[in-house]
Amino acid sequence: MPASPSALPVWHELATHRAELAATSMSELFDRDPRRGTELSAEHDGVVLDYSKNVITDRTLSLLMRLARDRGVAAGIDAMFGGARINTTENRAVLHTVLRTPAEESVMLDGVDVVRSVHEVLERMSDLADAIRSGRWRGATGRPVRTVVNIGIGGSDLGPGMAYHALREFAHDAVEARFVSNVDGHDIDRVLGDLDPETTVFIVSSKTFTTVETLTNARTARRWLVDRLGDEAVGKHFVAVSTNADEVAAFGIDPANMFEFWNWVGGRYSLPSAIGLSLMIVIGPEQFRELLAGAHSIDRHFRTAPLEQNLPVLLGMLGIWHRNFCGAQAFAVLPYDQRLALLPAYLQQLDMESNGKSVDRHGRPIGVDTAPILWGAPGTNGQHAFFQMLHQGTTPVPSDFIGVLEPTHTHRVHHDLLMANLFAQTRALAFGDLDSSGERPPHRSFPGDRPSNTILLPRLTPYTLGQLLALYEHKVFVQGWIWGVNSFDQWGVELGKNLATGIYDDLESDRAPALDSSTNALMMRYRRLRRAGTADRDTATTDEMI
Ligand code: F6P
Repeated sequence: MPASPSALPVWHELATHRAELAATSMSELFDRDPRRGTELSAEHDGVVLDYSKNVITDRTLSLLMRLARDRGVAAGIDAMFGGARINTTENRAVLHTVLRTPAEESVMLDGVDVVRSVHEVLERMSDLADAIRSGRWRGATGRPVRTVVNIGIGGSDLGPGMAYHALREFAHDAVEARFVSNVDGHDIDRVLGDLDPETTVFIVSSKTFTTVETLTNARTARRWLVDRLGDEAVGKHFVAVSTNADEVAAFGIDPANMFEFWNWVGGRYSLPSAIGLSLMIVIGPEQFRELLAGAHSIDRHFRTAPLEQNLPVLLGMLGIWHRNFCGAQAFAVLPYDQRLALLPAYLQQLDMESNGKSVDRHGRPIGVDTAPILWGAPGTNGQHAFFQMLHQGTTPVPSDFIGVLEPTHTHRVHHDLLMANLFAQTRALAFGDLDSSGERPPHRSFPGDRPSNTILLPRLTPYTLGQLLALYEHKVFVQGWIWGVNSFDQWGVELGKNLATGIYDDLESDRAPALDSSTNALMMRYRRLRRAGTADRDTATTDEMI
């Protein structure tokens, strides 16, 4: 396999084809084929993808599918599902799909049936969730649990936080979840503020159990609890989710209260593992299993559907078209559903941490652009904020519009308006002001030809949310495979972490910092103010915090 996909002949054919298409407009394409809207759409298990509003033709699609074939996407899918160590820099298999594999199946890794391990942990999670939901689990003073607080960051926070927000309608009446992630003390203050320690359980979620933000928040939470209920209360009020039993024990959490996952699950792929414990507690084990079933439905589809009808492959290859042949720098995710408000942030980690790389799996420069800048916000709010740039800015931004056909509220007018806006936006982006009568002044003219996909879900349930997440996970996989990157490591975050540790030590000491003149001056300014203003605030020592 060549280092760069650009070495493949089909890459050049795509580039030439793009140049030929440059003068073709979206309206021309729709005029040419009145059935385009239905022809360029695909459906699997209730999930609809309309990709007709892209400047593409049958030839574009066939070249993109040839690229997928020539780059070995099918073999890549088999390698991932089969447990090959495709996370090359960490020498790990990538088997998050096993987290949603039914118990009757088996996947062997190093002589162990990992499906079995997954279901054993799921059973333990279900027992805890049932105990909390039924009031059987009692805190140190004998009261039932009312709040679970997930302490984690990145993949150990974004997934459960996003899913909780999306699935609030499925939540237990009396048990709520809260999430604390930032090392910024305002975050934990916000979460602890009105909490009753007697009815709270903390879930310390960290794959590595070495992440400074999470451990700092966990220590602060433990101090808060111990100050109010004493040391003995910790066992009834703290559980851990991790791959690192030693560090969990060192922190002081009984390994009996630890829920395991495995190093073949990347942090940003870990919501369906025990990292989803807070979600399972509030929506219940049955609904959590629905989320797994939805994800599994897309896994099967991804593994078996022909490339041309394969939703994640289509999404991935359209993204390649925009990024590598049309020069798109960014990509917007626009859920027309307030319950999916946290989806863009979740997908930001999934996409940008997975594919924001410059070298391939063998360390060679890739030579073509990789992950675009991903951002987004729910419609219609985004329309009144950044959509101006989507419609008339100088940088076209391909986008995914996500709609849910059937709401759970009864405000029909609201939902019709919401969906009308979704349909209107994709139309305005595609066709501009084509069908308005008369000439418009330049500042009121809309160029159109701005690409978008529309994804429709029948309802928003744990099942369809599971489908949506798997859809994007596999889209990211397809793109990573085309670019040749290792989508499952994240070495890019290490440098900043290491530097922060050194700077933290300098801030705590009296030494003059010996870094660059900008950082030195900023640190000295902070140190002066810190001495003057916060001397009496902090109670923890450095050793306690790190
Ligand atoms: O710093 C990045 C990262 O490693 C993410 O990949 C991960 O999701 C997050 O930190 C949290 O890591 P952990 O679960 O080990 O605390």
